[in-house]
Amino acid sequence: MATISKVLQSRQEKMIDTGNKVTVVGVGQVGMATVFSLLTQGVTNNIVMVDTNEDKLKGEMMDLQHGSAFLCNATIKAGTDYSITADSQICVIAAGVRQMEGEDRRNLVQRNVEVLKGIVPQLLKYSPNTIFLITSNPVDVLTYVTWKISGLPKHRVIGSGTNLDSARFRYLLSQKLNIAPTSCHAYIIGEHGDSSVPVWSSVNIAGVRLRDLNKNIGLDCDEENWKETHTQVVQSAYEVIKLKGYTSWAIGLSLTQLIKAILTNVASVHAVTTSLKGEHGITEDVFLSLPCVLGRNGILDVIRQPLTDVEREQLLQSAKVMADVQSNIKF
Ligand code: 2OP
Repeated sequence: MATISKVLQSRQEKMIDTGNKVTVVGVGQVGMATVFSLLTQGVTNNIVMVDTNEDKLKGEMMDLQHGSAFLCNATIKAGTDYSITADSQICVIAAGVRQMEGEDRRNLVQRNVEVLKGIVPQLLKYSPNTIFLITSNPVDVLTYVTWKISGLPKHRVIGSGTNLDSARFRYLLSQKLNIAPTSCHAYIIGEHGDSSVPVWSSVNIAGVRLRDLNKNIGLDCDEENWKETHTQVVQSAYEVIKLKGYTSWAIGLSLTQLIKAILTNVASVHAVTTSLKGEHGITEDVFLSLPCVLGRNGILDVIRQPLTDVEREQLLQSAKVMADVQSNIKF
């Protein structure tokens, strides 16, 4: 140190705060896919991982630290004590039980509510100004639970929601149309998973709405059977879980996109879970996805898309299912 100080002529104190600290709770497959893509895409260079499994935590931390020379001078920390999460801009919750083969997401609810009760107050204690990003399933209900437990304003509690379903939808459309997924403009709203709602009426390529070319698109009477594309979206996770035991890469990339939008304050639009009270005729505090504008302070706007009667009816049905699940939660 004494010798290096002759070369490094200090002009000012070095700031330790990178301004982009992200905590990920849960170092399972989803948590680690998220951390890996955050670091390799350079979305943050300040990561903290928390879990209850000390060995796994330390192993993951060391493995990533050994890759530091390939990253952007990243600070990678891990521990079971929440004090290391202090002053996180975003806290991602990827902890809890996950679906087994054939199990639906809603079946996990009460077990993961208990997990959240142990996590949320701890995170809030050390990062009172943080934004929560929930991805544990059932993500919509758990976003509602986090909002309830934390007492934070709604714009600071966000669920990964149907950003992933929309990405799967765009991928499948891209395969059918032979156009890049980023140029297939399409949203899935409502519940992440089983009762999700494809907004066929606004699917477009460069402003050309597919519905103007096929007025029955996505409906039962559609001779081109586009409805099957949405069925495949709903089946996606079940199929991947059957094949490899869990899903990880796509959700990790989806979360990375959301975190990037928040940290860089770009005001980009993503379908994420938020309270739908007051939207599309929903009167309860039910949490589901709609396209939202994301920025530094979380959700900036909720976008009220024009929906067809069929789409609105499907969304209301999704809301009914969710309201029912929410009302049975034991806090
Ligand atoms: C997914 O859709 C399981 O919710 C997770 O990949």
